[in-house]
Amino acid sequence: MENRLQIAAGNWKMNKTYSEGIELVKELIERTKEGRAMVILGVPFIHLKGVADLIASADSTGGQTSSIKLAAQNCHYEEKGAFTGEISVDMLLSVGTEYVILGHSERREHFKESNEILSKKVEHAISKGIAPIFCCGESLRIRKAKIHVDFVSNQLNEGLFHLSKEAFSKVVIAYEPIWAIGTGETATPEQAQSMHKEIRTLIERKYGKDVAQNTSILYGGSVKPDNAKDLFSQPDVDGGLVGGASLNADDFVAIINSF
Ligand code: PGA
Repeated sequence: MENRLQIAAGNWKMNKTYSEGIELVKELIERTKEGRAMVILGVPFIHLKGVADLIASADSTGGQTSSIKLAAQNCHYEEKGAFTGEISVDMLLSVGTEYVILGHSERREHFKESNEILSKKVEHAISKGIAPIFCCGESLRIRKAKIHVDFVSNQLNEGLFHLSKEAFSKVVIAYEPIWAIGTGETATPEQAQSMHKEIRTLIERKYGKDVAQNTSILYGGSVKPDNAKDLFSQPDVDGGLVGGASLNADDFVAIINSF
C-alpha cells in the first residue's frame, strides 16, 4: 500500500507585507499543532527567514513539533553569479527552505518559463537538496479541445522526466488547471481524480509502480474550505496547493483540517 504524504501547501504569490505574513504564520503555528497533514508555506523571499525562525522557536518551546515546512516560489538553475534579481538554491537552503514551487502557470505565462528552463531548475534544486513542487496544468482552450492529458504529459516529459528515479522520488506534483486558478471555478472532484490518475499512470510508466504510488500529487485551483474535503478524499488527490484561501488563517486552517 502506498505511503504518500498528505500535504496542504499555501502559495502566497505576491501578497503580504513582512509583518502581515509573520502575523499569519504565528496564528497558523498555534492552530495547526495537532494536524495530520504536512503544511507547506510558499512565501515571498523576504518572509523565508522570519518564518523559519518562528517554526524553530515553536519547535523548541511548544513541546510539539510544528508540521509547517517552508517553500520558496522560485529559484535559479545556476549556482550563483551575475543574475540580477534572481535567487539561488544555496541562498534558499541557508535560511532553512525545504521546498520550491516550480512551473507555476503564472511563471510560465508572465515570465516565459519554458519546460526547458524548468527542467534545469528542477534538476539543480534536487541536486542541492530542495524538493520541487512541480506545477502542471492546462488552459481552458486546451481542456475544451480535449487534449489536456497530452498537454500535461508533455509538461511532465519535458520538465521532469529527465530526472533519475532517485531524483524524481523527491518531487511533489501539483496539478493546477489554469481555468480554475483564482477564478472561483474549481475542477470537480471527478475531474481532479481523473487527471491525477492519468498523471500517476504516466509516472508509473516512466519510473515504475513504487515511485508512482509514493508520489504526492496535489490539486490546485480555487481550493476553499467548502470544497477541500471532497477533493482531498479522492484516491489520487493527496492534498492541495492553495492560493487565495491560504492568505486567511480561518480558511487555510479549515482546509488543513479537511484531511
Ligand atoms: P488559487 O491559486 O487557490 O487562488 O486558485 C492556486 C495557485 O495558483 O496555486
